[in-house]
Amino acid sequence: MAVKTDEIASDLFRISLYVPQANLQFNQFLVRDAEPLLYHTGLRKMFPMVRDAVARLIDPATLRWIGFSHFEADECGSLNEWLATAPHAEPACGRVGAVVNINDFADRKARILEKDEVLDTGRHRFRFLPTPHVPHGWDAGLFFEETGRSLFCSDLFLQICNVEPVTTESIIDRARQTLLDYQAGPLAGALPYTPMTDATLKTLAALKPQRLVAMHGSTFVGNGEQALLDLAEVMKEVLGKKD
Ligand SMILES: [Fe+2]
Ligand SMILES: [Fe+2]
Repeated sequence: MAVKTDEIASDLFRISLYVPQANLQFNQFLVRDAEPLLYHTGLRKMFPMVRDAVARLIDPATLRWIGFSHFEADECGSLNEWLATAPHAEPACGRVGAVVNINDFADRKARILEKDEVLDTGRHRFRFLPTPHVPHGWDAGLFFEETGRSLFCSDLFLQICNVEPVTTESIIDRARQTLLDYQAGPLAGALPYTPMTDATLKTLAALKPQRLVAMHGSTFVGNGEQALLDLAEVMKEVLGKKD
């Protein structure tokens, strides 16, 4: 398993591990700023590789914030390893995530972010958006970085294969095919389709992001509003049908 690091926007680094057995990338994102932020820690067993990649960019002990969309091993499995490495680091998540998981699981309490609260890391502003069950998990939420209009969209736009770090080509066809493939395989049902799914995706589209920072697959740079509206249609088509 090789680590590949790319600066996908100014001081936004994508640390990607491709796992051939899963034919899937696991992407962590480091924001180099006055208060450095890591979005997704990666799986616990990936910790040494992610830490070494971070160490090429900043002193890992200076990490200040650890963000993630929901409580799952690939999103925050090495949270405690990071808290031990960085003495001033705090998990940053929504109230549900803190109360239900993090304040028990983690060795340091979470900084709770309320709806639309902004976490200011210096030159970046992360707005917290609670998105229950989008992509999945009661505690799910997403960060929208306002200065670069980057939506950290977690498992939305999931794309298989060892794809390029950034693309300006539409990723909707890949994301649709991946959803179909997952629904036909042993990991079917990864993303629920709830009465809130469509409205949540439309709320995200209204932010007009210009960068969709995907956890599994390429980051898309372009018309994020249209891409999210397209994804809403794909999820309705693939996951929302009653049969
Ligand atoms: Fe997930
Ligand atoms: Fe994930």
